[in-house]
Amino acid sequence: MAVPLVDLKAHSQQLKQELANAVLSALESTQFINGPAVAAFEGQLAEYTESEHAVGCASGTDALYLALRSLGIGPGSEVITTPFTFVATAEAIARCGATPVFADIDSQTYNIDPENVRTAITSRTRAILPVHLFGQAADMDPLMALARLHGLSVIEDGAQSLGGKYKGRPLGGIGDAGCLSFFPSKTIGGAGDGGAVIVKDAQAAQMVRTIRDHGAVKKYYSETHGLNSRLDTVQAAYLRVKLRHLDAFIQQRNQVARWYDAALQGLPIVRPTVTEGCLHAFGYYTVQVQNRERVQQVLNQHGIGNAVYYPYSLHCQPVFGDLGYKPGDFPVSEHAQEHVLSLPMYPELTQDQVREIADALKKAV
Ligand SMILES: Cc1ncc(COP(=O)(O)O)c(C=O)c1O
Repeated sequence: MAVPLVDLKAHSQQLKQELANAVLSALESTQFINGPAVAAFEGQLAEYTESEHAVGCASGTDALYLALRSLGIGPGSEVITTPFTFVATAEAIARCGATPVFADIDSQTYNIDPENVRTAITSRTRAILPVHLFGQAADMDPLMALARLHGLSVIEDGAQSLGGKYKGRPLGGIGDAGCLSFFPSKTIGGAGDGGAVIVKDAQAAQMVRTIRDHGAVKKYYSETHGLNSRLDTVQAAYLRVKLRHLDAFIQQRNQVARWYDAALQGLPIVRPTVTEGCLHAFGYYTVQVQNRERVQQVLNQHGIGNAVYYPYSLHCQPVFGDLGYKPGDFPVSEHAQEHVLSLPMYPELTQDQVREIADALKKAV
């Protein structure tokens, strides 16, 4: 039987009635922009991430831009980030007029290595932007210590990790700002695009609100360049329901990961690690294999969803060509791009399905 990479139908089925009621009530209110569900969701999110403020916006991509701008990142600033991530992470830095500076990743976690961040700091560095890739926490303690030592901001890209924890602390709520995505396949996905910025500082939170609404400090009076990046009321209503169930989803994802770990044992496949003291959100279950093309062929023949996140490190992509990097500059990231393979992962995946995926992988490797 075919197994999709993500099964949004199975996922929304169990919450169908709750979601329908929430959406219907938002629709009936006709307060489509800044309706009461938006503030309610923001409050719920701030509480969930143990933070002072949460501000909804139109996407995870915008959340990164808004967070950076609210912390004063602009032309002349350097922001250190990972080359092994979705393009939006570094794109947001460039969109602010700042310069992305890449630092290679740790081979176990695929996350930025604090030691490489340390050596990349210059007099122009203003922020560090770690990504909790695949739902696994970046090593926040040394990153925060470096930031404090050098007077830098820390912005977490938590697009893949809401629900995960680092030493008991919710991901997205540790740095000066955290950026979330509610793209439908994320750990809590909307019925469309959506995002949020988690912020500690009240002034930064106000700045996010101002920039997301055309830079306006009062009606039709703009103080700074902004954009239209609000979270729709209907989305917020839908997401409120999902957020209430997030902890259960994360437990289910961890159960699926344990089934995978057991089923893949003994095969020449590098399984994901879980950093001690951390709760992996398992947005993705990503392994490494030697002959990836052949493995993908076999999985495709069996109708098993799979994907490569990410086949090109950012420093090797034309969009960042003007930064002057070249292949070979970040060998750990480049090794990962050749070998990673993400397998089906969603809370409703069954043990039988995991066995079926493992059987196909056995044939392939
Ligand atoms: C690591 C990372 N950052 C940022 C984003 C951007 O989020 P969105 O698609 O909501 O704009 C994504 C989304 O895929 C992501 O995976």
